[in-house]
Amino acid sequence: MTESRFEPRILGFLCNWCCYTAADSAGVGRYQYPPNLRVIRMMCTGRLDASFPLEALASGADGVFVGGCHLGECHYQDGNYHALITAGFVRKVLESLGVDQGRFLIDWASAAEGPRFVQIITDFTSLVRELGPLGASEGQDADALRNRLKTAADAARGLKARTGLLKAAKAIVKQGDYKPESIASIITEKCAKTLDAVLAGGS
Ligand code: FES
Repeated sequence: MTESRFEPRILGFLCNWCCYTAADSAGVGRYQYPPNLRVIRMMCTGRLDASFPLEALASGADGVFVGGCHLGECHYQDGNYHALITAGFVRKVLESLGVDQGRFLIDWASAAEGPRFVQIITDFTSLVRELGPLGASEGQDADALRNRLKTAADAARGLKARTGLLKAAKAIVKQGDYKPESIASIITEKCAKTLDAVLAGGS
């Protein structure tokens, strides 16, 4: 009897103007990529809420991808910079919950970059497939982990979390440095209480 290969469930939040169109053009161009991705189209990655990736993982996804326009090419000026800040906060929550960081990716592809989109999704799917179902690479009970993610997602929608993240976002925008490590350090500094509240389910 052949053992069936684990196929991850991946949810993608794609910007209408770039990544979604890149996915479309990849389809029209008959490029092949893994069928594991399910897509939610948003007008801009700036619409990303910290609760979205957390809720997705809590609800059964093994990996979450956020795809938008290249930096400097957002159709709403700076939505993707805001998405980077939100992603930084999500990474902190995932780290605190012991979720493998490889399960969450934010990246860019322009409307003309169908092949690039295909490469990103192929590589990400391979990585999440290697990690296994949520909980496996974490060494945690999947149901318990999903419950904790759900609690964090609910709290991330609350006023306390939004206010905390806004403070960090202002500091990051002022500094103008969007390197992941710089965003992480400001979020650690400005959002310590917010993170605690989100992890405890406080809103
Ligand atoms: S319009 Fe694509 S990221 Fe903003």
